[in-house]
Amino acid sequence: MKLKLFLPLLLACLNLPAQQARPDEPQYTSDGQLKLPDNYREWVFLSSGLGMTYGFVDSATNSAVGDRFDNVFVTPQAYRAFLATGTWPDKTMFIMEVRTSTSKGSINKGGHFQEGLVGLEAHVKDQSRFPNKWEFFGFGPASRMAPPKGAKSSCQTCHATNGAVDNTFVQFYPTLLQVAKSKGTLKPEIAK
Ligand code: HEC
Repeated sequence: MKLKLFLPLLLACLNLPAQQARPDEPQYTSDGQLKLPDNYREWVFLSSGLGMTYGFVDSATNSAVGDRFDNVFVTPQAYRAFLATGTWPDKTMFIMEVRTSTSKGSINKGGHFQEGLVGLEAHVKDQSRFPNKWEFFGFGPASRMAPPKGAKSSCQTCHATNGAVDNTFVQFYPTLLQVAKSKGTLKPEIAK
């Protein structure tokens, strides 16, 4: 009787690491879509942009669509590696959360706070999987998976041309900018 109870328990314990995906590494569906990492809000918060107009521009008015906030998160192990080296390790994942803003609510008299989710964007370094080492994905507010944007997407072009460190916009993440400066990993044009 005791053995009957013990054996399944032991098997369950042995099985546990295999069943759990490795923490905070990109997971894909069989057709190559990125699965939304549910726990990205437990990752390290880098910064927020408010009403930044490099993207999300309304083509009719050529202005930013409202004053949207974006919140950038990165996986904890990639963050720690960046602090040590000033660059991003393989399997780094970023999520950028885009939200509408408002100034009307509760006791607020001025300024803006965040409201509804507009979408989530991911930037993933997976060197053996993607030709440019990095790939981009866009999730709607309710989607759980997203296909790669592809090696020639506008996301790739802008990030590769303008990102301060290894395709990423470290120039807008104030604490990491200091790290990159001290490690000498900023793109030369930006370090000037
Ligand atoms: C014209 C330039 C431009 C284009 C095109 C662009 N981005 Fe970005 N992206 C930025 C800038 C600037 C930031 C950093 C500032 C911020 O918004 O907080 C950023 C930040 C990000 C981040 C946070 C991590 C990082 O790399 O710094 C993600 C994720 C991201 N973008 C995804 C995307 C996706 C997906 C696309 C294509 C659908 C895209 N971006 C297209 C300029 C661009």
